Amino acid sequence: MSPKNDKSSPLPENCTLISSVSIIMKHIDSICAIEAASFDPPWTRNDFINELGGGGSPSMILLNKGMLIGYLFSKKALDEITINKLCIHAEYRGRGYGNLLLYNFIEQMRGQFSRIFLEAACTNTTAIRLYTKNGFRVNRIRKAIYADGADAVEMVRGGEEVR
Ligand SMILES: CC(C)(COP(=O)(O)OP(=O)(O)OC[C@H]1O[C@@H](n2cnc3c(N)ncnc32)[C@H](O)[C@@H]1OP(=O)(O)O)[C@@H](O)C(=O)NCCC(=O)NCCS
Repeated sequence: MSPKNDKSSPLPENCTLISSVSIIMKHIDSICAIEAASFDPPWTRNDFINELGGGGSPSMILLNKGMLIGYLFSKKALDEITINKLCIHAEYRGRGYGNLLLYNFIEQMRGQFSRIFLEAACTNTTAIRLYTKNGFRVNRIRKAIYADGADAVEMVRGGEEVR
């Protein structure tokens, strides 16, 4: 079942969202496989383990019939949080799962932080549309920070100041 078109709907029957570090650890091989197929350079296994082990890094995975199809990692700093990784398995993209994961993560964090930050390459129109749809607005452009020279757009949700 696809969750498309209703971001506030309950989880589809076959889907589970998990934020328990010990359970996420059990899916680390699948996370690394999706990561390697999605990013250049990808985060390494140790990058993920360090994030999970360090504390102060809320994360969430999305399972469909027990199979990992998406993950989100973030980092806390005082009353702000930065989402530094969001990815959906390539075969499941464009069906509303990214929205489902982001929406539910924001709901889980509600009231705990004054602002949520994230960043995408200016060329990643899919991600930027997903973030805009979920209430993020452009905070600033960071010039040529990617290996291919692309600019990054930093987006923020909540608060009004520009840092
Ligand atoms: C970015 C990503 C997480 C989005 O997840 P997804 O499951 O594909 O997105 P969804 O199906 O939930 O779509 C959510 C919104 O994104 C936008 N979107 C999705 N697919 C799109 C496409 N092919 N083109 C343009 N916009 C698109 C739309 O605004 C869509 O909302 P709508 O259908 O109501 O218009 C996913 O494509 C991905 O993992 N990409 C590779 C990794 C990546 O770029 N991560 C983000 C790094 S900052």
